[in-house]
Amino acid sequence: TGKHAGLLAKSGLAVTGVERSAEMIAAAQVQHANVEIIAGDARAVRLEQKFDVVLSLFHVVSYQTTNDDVTKMFDTAAAHLRDGGCFMFDVWYGPAVLRQLPEPRVKEMEDDRSQVRRVAKPTVDFNQNWVDVNYSITVTDKASGQQEQFDECHRMRYFFAPEIDLFARASRMELVHGEQWLDRAVPSAETWGVTFILRKQKQNQ
Ligand SMILES: C[S@@+](CC[C@H](N)C(=O)[O-])C[C@H]1O[C@@H](n2cnc3c(N)ncnc32)[C@H](O)[C@@H]1O
Repeated sequence: TGKHAGLLAKSGLAVTGVERSAEMIAAAQVQHANVEIIAGDARAVRLEQKFDVVLSLFHVVSYQTTNDDVTKMFDTAAAHLRDGGCFMFDVWYGPAVLRQLPEPRVKEMEDDRSQVRRVAKPTVDFNQNWVDVNYSITVTDKASGQQEQFDECHRMRYFFAPEIDLFARASRMELVHGEQWLDRAVPSAETWGVTFILRKQKQNQ
């Protein structure tokens, strides 16, 4: 919904968003009219514009599950960075995913009109480095008691620092930093979400 884009724009930065879902663009534009959001795929879009930072939050890189997808997204980020600019993103971190293993989870939310129950049943593919998070969502209308149920699968790739380093080099960037999401600790097998920072190298480097 463009939450982070909205916060960054509010702090005075010029922000351009890229999103492939028309529905999500519409939702983001309602909440953050001051942010430009362009319809496009982070693996392919070319804006003919350079930026100081390319930011990808909430595990969008983990949604790129094949090496081809990751390479294309990293190439796209590099194509939009000025020399020395940074690509920052958070991903699921392999050591923690394999150590802790994803578990079934239930989340319940409600407002005045409806109750939502979301059951997540993850399965790990240890050979592909991804987790299929199978969501089953039930929405109950409080007034009528009528229920609607739908299923969704989110395939999430987990990453290890040495492969991030390799993907970065292939796209003419260097890995300069990795830290535990939000508290900045050194990543460990306890760290599900890690933020990485890559820097674009100068053309002749
Ligand atoms: C977890 S949300 C990201 C939320 C966003 N960072 C924010 O702060 O609101 C994932 C979004 O990424 C979008 N997405 C995933 N892969 C994409 C791709 N290859 N290109 C463009 N958008 C993508 C999805 O459509 C979805 O709306």
